[in-house]
Amino acid sequence: MRSFPFARRSSGPLVQPAPLTQAPPTGAGQEGRAARWFLYSAVFWLVVPGVAGLLMAAFLFAPYLHERLPLDLRPYLQFGRLRPVHVNTALFGWLSMAYAGAMLFIVPRLTRAPLYSERLALVNVVLWNVTMVGAFFSLLLGFNQGREYAELAWPLDWLMIANYLLLAVNLWGTTLRRREPRVYISVWNFMAASLIIAFVYGIGNVVWDPAGALTGMNDAILNYFYVHNLFNAWFTTGGIGLVYYLLPKLSGNPVWSYRLAVWGFASVWTGQHHLLYAPGPDWLEALSVAFSILAAVPNTAFAYNFFMTMQGAWSKARSDVPLRFLATGCIFYLLTCIQGVAQSFRTFNSLVHFTNWVIGHSHLAFVASFSFIAFALVYHILPRLQGSSAGAFSRRVMEWHYWLTLVGIVVFMVVLWTAGLVQGRDWLAGGVPFMDTVRAMRPYMLLRLLAGGTIGAGVLLFAYNVARTLRSAPKPAPPRERR
Ligand code: HEM
Ligand code: HEM
Repeated sequence: MRSFPFARRSSGPLVQPAPLTQAPPTGAGQEGRAARWFLYSAVFWLVVPGVAGLLMAAFLFAPYLHERLPLDLRPYLQFGRLRPVHVNTALFGWLSMAYAGAMLFIVPRLTRAPLYSERLALVNVVLWNVTMVGAFFSLLLGFNQGREYAELAWPLDWLMIANYLLLAVNLWGTTLRRREPRVYISVWNFMAASLIIAFVYGIGNVVWDPAGALTGMNDAILNYFYVHNLFNAWFTTGGIGLVYYLLPKLSGNPVWSYRLAVWGFASVWTGQHHLLYAPGPDWLEALSVAFSILAAVPNTAFAYNFFMTMQGAWSKARSDVPLRFLATGCIFYLLTCIQGVAQSFRTFNSLVHFTNWVIGHSHLAFVASFSFIAFALVYHILPRLQGSSAGAFSRRVMEWHYWLTLVGIVVFMVVLWTAGLVQGRDWLAGGVPFMDTVRAMRPYMLLRLLAGGTIGAGVLLFAYNVARTLRSAPKPAPPRERR
């Protein structure tokens, strides 16, 4: 009798092994092509939010700059259109495509099986880029469903679901055909993340209705149920899976405890903590605060595992830039969670809600933690997918990329947290005219613009370094087999 594939028992240790050294089943040529193009596309889509972010930061410092734009450009480059372009290309273009490329590279290695279908993965990468081009132009033209992180027009929502489902088919299909008896924690994380996000995206975007929304408070609750699961189930569960693959590879130590890693495999109902004091049910708010505090359990498990695995490898991070990116990203992830739990308390939330503090938190999560992890992934994976061009990255450019991005993002966040506390204090004090609280933000907005420029310079160096690998990319070999 054939047993269910996931039920196969491993007689080996529960601890995730040190880096696999056997020849990988994918590599240069046709196989691995989709993963490679996912990573190149991701880097392209990082430049887009970089430009949009800098334009927004400039307008927030000096709104009159918008009036100086040529007349024809003004409607397209107004803040209300640039913001969703920035957020959507950053999250669904840059980060999600980097995740998808890395997952397609990693799963065949951890399962010791070829990718279920390279052809499907190629369709996936083309469709994903089509979706992002559609998102970019439709949002600039003003087609926007008006719900945060769910702005995309109805047909694009369906394309986005198809993207996640195609990815899930490939990850699940490869795992079902695996030759490695164990299913490593990273693989569990990827399978869960890719499948859950496809459903949550559909539900949160109300895709059964072209209008794409419910009404009233119900819509806000559903919207934020989706938003936090986009963060939790996709970016966090997927991101932690990526760390559990890369950390042993780069540090040279096996993951300290597989059991603890399983404890980190959790998602929680916390959507309502984005809507504290809104006219939603009190019990739902209380539940979301309780679950936000409970999130400390998986995050502490992750933190402990991370620090234990890094034992003896910290000095290596001095010379190994990808490991430094990864370790920095993990430390910032822990800060994200500490800050997140703090701002889930109603008292503290009443001070920071609607202020720049929250924008600081968003960039702590998505730039300082998950983008840093994604930088490490691109640096580690691309040369391996290229085969012959392992030395394609310039080490000096990598160092500049690291320091510019680190200094930029730290200043960016500290400035926004301070600005948020000042805004919150003035609003709560009452009696301060609102426009005065807006004017008080000018120095902070200038500093944020400068910090954003520094991050932007880092991003350009990263893009340049990645582009160098294109020049040295080997010509693809003819297809080897059909599946
Ligand atoms: C050059 C670097 C960047 C600059 C200058 C920048 C700037 C900005 C600005 C000005 C906003 C709007 C803030 C507001 O509404 O007051 C924003 C929002 C946002 N950005 Fe960025 N950004 C940058 C990079 C990124 C990257 C790389 C990501 C993701 C990977 C990202 C994710 C977000 C998100 C999720 C929001 C929405 C925040 C919220 O609503 O809380 N940003 N960014
Ligand atoms: C234990 C972990 C975390 C907790 C408890 C938490 C808590 C919160 C809370 C309470 C808010 C609402 C702030 C407000 O608007 O008043 C918030 C906003 C936000 N969080 Fe977190 N957070 C956590 C981790 C994360 C992670 C891992 C990510 C990214 C994957 C993330 C991304 C964001 C973003 C982008 C926002 C702004 C949402 C918006 O545009 O309104 N957070 N978080």
